[in-house]
Amino acid sequence: MAGQAARELVRARTDIVDLVSAYVTLRKQGRRYVGLCPFHSEKTPSFTVDRERGLFYCFGCGAGGDVFEFVMRVHGLSFPEALRELARRAGIQLEEVPEHRKGEWERWLRAADGAVAFFERSLAHPETGRLAREYLERRGVDGATIRRFRLGYAPDGWDFLLRHLTAQGYEPQLLERLGFVHPRAEGGWYDAFRHRLMFPIFDPQGRPVAFGGRALREADQPKYLNSRDSPLFSKARTLYGLHLARDALHRSGRAVVVEGYMDLVACHQYGIGEAVATLGTALTLEQAQLLRRHCPAAVLVYDSDEAGRRAVERALPVLEQVGLEGRAAVLPEGLDPDAFLRGYGRDEFLRRLDQAVSLVQFALEASVRRHPQTPEGKVRVVDEVLPLVASIRHDVARSEHIAQLSQRLGIPEDAVRARLRALRRRQARPGQGPDPVRVAAEASAQQLAEQHLLQRMLDEEEARVRLLQILREEDFTDPLHREVFTALRHSGDVHVVREAVSEAARQVVHRLWFGPRPARPDEDGWVARIRAEQRRRRRAELVAEIARAERAGELDRVRAIQEELKALVE
Ligand code: UTP
Ligand code: MN
Repeated sequence: MAGQAARELVRARTDIVDLVSAYVTLRKQGRRYVGLCPFHSEKTPSFTVDRERGLFYCFGCGAGGDVFEFVMRVHGLSFPEALRELARRAGIQLEEVPEHRKGEWERWLRAADGAVAFFERSLAHPETGRLAREYLERRGVDGATIRRFRLGYAPDGWDFLLRHLTAQGYEPQLLERLGFVHPRAEGGWYDAFRHRLMFPIFDPQGRPVAFGGRALREADQPKYLNSRDSPLFSKARTLYGLHLARDALHRSGRAVVVEGYMDLVACHQYGIGEAVATLGTALTLEQAQLLRRHCPAAVLVYDSDEAGRRAVERALPVLEQVGLEGRAAVLPEGLDPDAFLRGYGRDEFLRRLDQAVSLVQFALEASVRRHPQTPEGKVRVVDEVLPLVASIRHDVARSEHIAQLSQRLGIPEDAVRARLRALRRRQARPGQGPDPVRVAAEASAQQLAEQHLLQRMLDEEEARVRLLQILREEDFTDPLHREVFTALRHSGDVHVVREAVSEAARQVVHRLWFGPRPARPDEDGWVARIRAEQRRRRRAELVAEIARAERAGELDRVRAIQEELKALVE
């Protein structure tokens, strides 16, 4: 596979302890190194580095991976960018890298840029672009903003972009991978964006990589159509407008986070240069981490409706997790930042930013609105807001929020604290490192047996070969464990396994790899436990099946199942 060799070479020449040490003070602890996690705020070190295998893992926030993933996270880079950066560090000429995919990458970027240029020209075209230009004018977007954001128009037809870019030598298959065209069932391709106002989405270096297209007719749904993820674009890792906001973020020390394309464009037109947009998704952890690299605080300015308020509440734990100080600005009911700026102007918007409240306070007010001022209503408010309070790491801040909550609702502080304690007992606490007692209590015996067996297979080649002969996929009840087991069929190398599985299963691999091992391995005992659990499940199924067959009067079936049950018990 192209790229694979380059990846291996760079990995082999990069010492992960050297690499990480530029960001984290590491201390040797046994075979491993530990330090304070750079991806979330913590006081006790749960960030662990395995020099031999070139892997890192944080027991607190679950971040984990190899040297590439470390650089991607720390600098907000894509994989190819991280590869290039580490190749440079390791003194490997990219041209020297075997089978590198640099050329292919640059071609993708050129194709995306070609699409942007085409849409820009269509917008400027006297006839073709008239409707779209009139629309922009109605919405108050000026010419400078159109050029700055390279706004465009996708003409009303099936193959304008397809014909334009294939004429320039780009294969339809390439355009399909970028999400610019879709295949037709009967063969051939058609444009993904038709009669839409086009917002190019840029990477942090300012190169276009994807699009959002706004419908110009009410009847066209969805209102905004986004490019799907492609080799150039990952929606969850992208903040719209970041390439323009970077300097302002560093200068002002805070980000203004909005939800929509139009909101973002309006902010910049009105001189709010530190605005970025999430593109309609709930704020993701990757987006928050990206932001955290540029500034320590964020003010959310979301639509002032129930959906917007819910989105603010969901963003709070995400910001907290990466150590971004979050606040929320309140706009008049029913308005979004775009409408507010046009109606009230820049100064009033800045005032709202200054008056932004803490996210807990915001959630409290939103919750109070939702529930009646009765004792039952207050209990619901407390239960809605307390999980957010519990996610606040800082003790002083947490106390303050508790005081506010009790004041606002007229409930004694002690009662609120008692409720919080009850909640915390039930909740797994992030950022505390592994607590073997808690872990053991939570994972069922079956889960533990599955984990121990997978660990053995990762640790020792002989154990892997032996267990592969004994175990089957169905032995694993946890779907992620099953996935890891399947990957282990091909190799026990942790890197190979990591790369063969889904993102979620990869986290399981990290947890297993860095997690504690039992004092002494008991493969037979674990296998026996798994088999016993299987019999138990099968028995429960059969008992239920007997009941069903009896109701249906299928007496032969009842007898057959009873036979099977007897065999199971013996
Ligand atoms: P809104 O519906 O609030 O749109 O969606 P808006 O930004 O105010 O758009 P205008 O003012 O009507 O033009 C907010 C954001 O959610 C995403 C888009 O990123 C949009 O900007 N969204 C919305 C979608 O991705 N798809 C949709 O169908 C709707
Ligand atoms: Mn709007």
